[in-house]
Amino acid sequence: MVHPGSIVILDFGGQYAHLIARRVREAGAYSEIRPPETPVSELHGAAGFILSGGPQSVYDEGSPQADPRILQLGIPVLGLCYGLHWITHVLGGEVKSGKVKEYGRMPIRIVHGGGILRDCGEGCTVWMSHGDEAVKLPDGFTLMATSDSCKNAAFGDESRHLYALQFHPEVTHTEHGRDILRTFVELCKPAPWSVENFAARIGAQMREEVDGRKVFMLVSGGVDSTVAFTLLNRELGPERVFGLLVDTGLMRKNEIGAIRKALHEFGYDNLHVEDASDEFFRNLEGVTEPEAKRKIIGDTFLAVQRRVSEKMGLHAEDGWMLGQGTIYPDTIETGGTKHADQIKTHHNRVPAVQELIEKGLVLEPLKDLYKDEVRRLGEELGLPHELVWRHPFPGPGLGVRILCAKAPDIATFASPADEAHAKVVVGVPHMGLPVRSVGVQGDGRTYRHAVAVFLPEPERDPAKLHELATRVPNALKAYNRVLLCLSHDDRFDVVFTPGFLTRERADLLREADAVVDEVMREAGLYEKIWQFPVVLLPFGMIEGGQSVVLRPISSTDAMTADAFLLPPEVLTAMTDRLMALPGIEAVFLDLTSKPPATIEWE
Ligand code: XMP
Repeated sequence: MVHPGSIVILDFGGQYAHLIARRVREAGAYSEIRPPETPVSELHGAAGFILSGGPQSVYDEGSPQADPRILQLGIPVLGLCYGLHWITHVLGGEVKSGKVKEYGRMPIRIVHGGGILRDCGEGCTVWMSHGDEAVKLPDGFTLMATSDSCKNAAFGDESRHLYALQFHPEVTHTEHGRDILRTFVELCKPAPWSVENFAARIGAQMREEVDGRKVFMLVSGGVDSTVAFTLLNRELGPERVFGLLVDTGLMRKNEIGAIRKALHEFGYDNLHVEDASDEFFRNLEGVTEPEAKRKIIGDTFLAVQRRVSEKMGLHAEDGWMLGQGTIYPDTIETGGTKHADQIKTHHNRVPAVQELIEKGLVLEPLKDLYKDEVRRLGEELGLPHELVWRHPFPGPGLGVRILCAKAPDIATFASPADEAHAKVVVGVPHMGLPVRSVGVQGDGRTYRHAVAVFLPEPERDPAKLHELATRVPNALKAYNRVLLCLSHDDRFDVVFTPGFLTRERADLLREADAVVDEVMREAGLYEKIWQFPVVLLPFGMIEGGQSVVLRPISSTDAMTADAFLLPPEVLTAMTDRLMALPGIEAVFLDLTSKPPATIEWE
């Protein structure tokens, strides 16, 4: 069964399934993503179907197939790209492998207007990304739009409410794409959906699921779990909810206080903060490798959680279940985003939790919502705006922003000629930094060096720096990041000090992070920036000295990202205030996009 009156997206493995689902919700209908092979018997209740794109050809062996009976239910169906090929193939039309793959913006001409293309006038620009195309329409279908490079760009059978588009209305590059999807959604006559009516409905549903039990909720400090905890309190009453916030020692300055205060103002004092920072720092002693740090932080977290639940007697036998702030993208592994979701899925779906889920002992009140819907719900519940719109913060906290190394690790070149070539490629005064950080290339992770360039302020031209940050990692395998040194115009002698995840370094980074946060807010930039990691590096100008990297990010989903362009006066204010912190001896700005760099340095 699906949620009654929802629009179901059958995901053929394209990268846009979540985007389609988001657009449908914006159009006022509830959307669910399901695997393509879901039998029609499990899809009862749907008001309409959207078949996504996908990387394969319908003729490929093992290519994804939907249950053809969805085309006979009399419910509207919209096939996009691979979805178009599948409808064409199943209903007796013909699909051919395109000789050239087409990517990008294309103009289409409307040959039969109205219907789902009613807002497109005589034509518009659309986003195509395909190899195959339909060369013969199935019986009963009428051509609706055409383009020079793809004759059958859109077609449909109005009497059966079946539609097929070769292009992607879900991406913003398609003019009127949102209109097309909204018209299709209207045609489906779905049950109305909004965060407000979700909030009204969720109470009864939650009480039924909890069925008289009590909920032990893990509050991480992030937006999702804070909203989920507030909702649980409101719906079940604080006496049936127990919140646990583990202080790992790797949280931001005032983070715990802000959450406690917001909850206290509601009258919810049932959040227990367990200070486990000593245990975290002890377990992390001497560890430098990024994956090892992550694992230790995750394991320690679970150990603390287990200990507290033992101590407090929060056992399933005594009527307790576990609450988590899981959201929709964490629960649905769509074809195109499987890889990207791994990090967080990992977090909420570790084996111990999986076991509890199977026993019906986990409550995830936000599991149907997207992030922006969670934020709207948070505001609806009355949580403070600043708390609800906080930047995403990684689970391991400052732990992925404190670079650790036992010894200096400088990029080496195979020969003096290679080294000379690298100098020419960078072209301006520069220095390889003695640490490595994580990056991403294709589907794989890299672990390479950063190179810092030195330019006096008048020469820090943003276009030139952007070009440099794109060109250098492409041309030189040694580097996955390009930084601009903000604190010094000329190279300086670096003094490296072995650096680990210690309380002293976490405290220093916490201060640096708070300074950056404050200047960003004063400049009115907080809500324009997606995320702003501040990273601590284990070198400076004297023994024990540290450096800081600013990593302002512009992104919509964290899967790809660019460096956010900060005004020079903001950079100067941040640098001056950071350099005034005892122990900080240099400040850099990370200019690299993702890929080839990741957002976090780890
Ligand atoms: P990267 O560094 O991979 O980060 O470009 C992409 C997004 O994921 C966040 N991130 C994490 N979030 N647990 C989390 O909950 C993690 O281990 C983790 N690592 C990275 C990162 O902050 C960015 O928003």
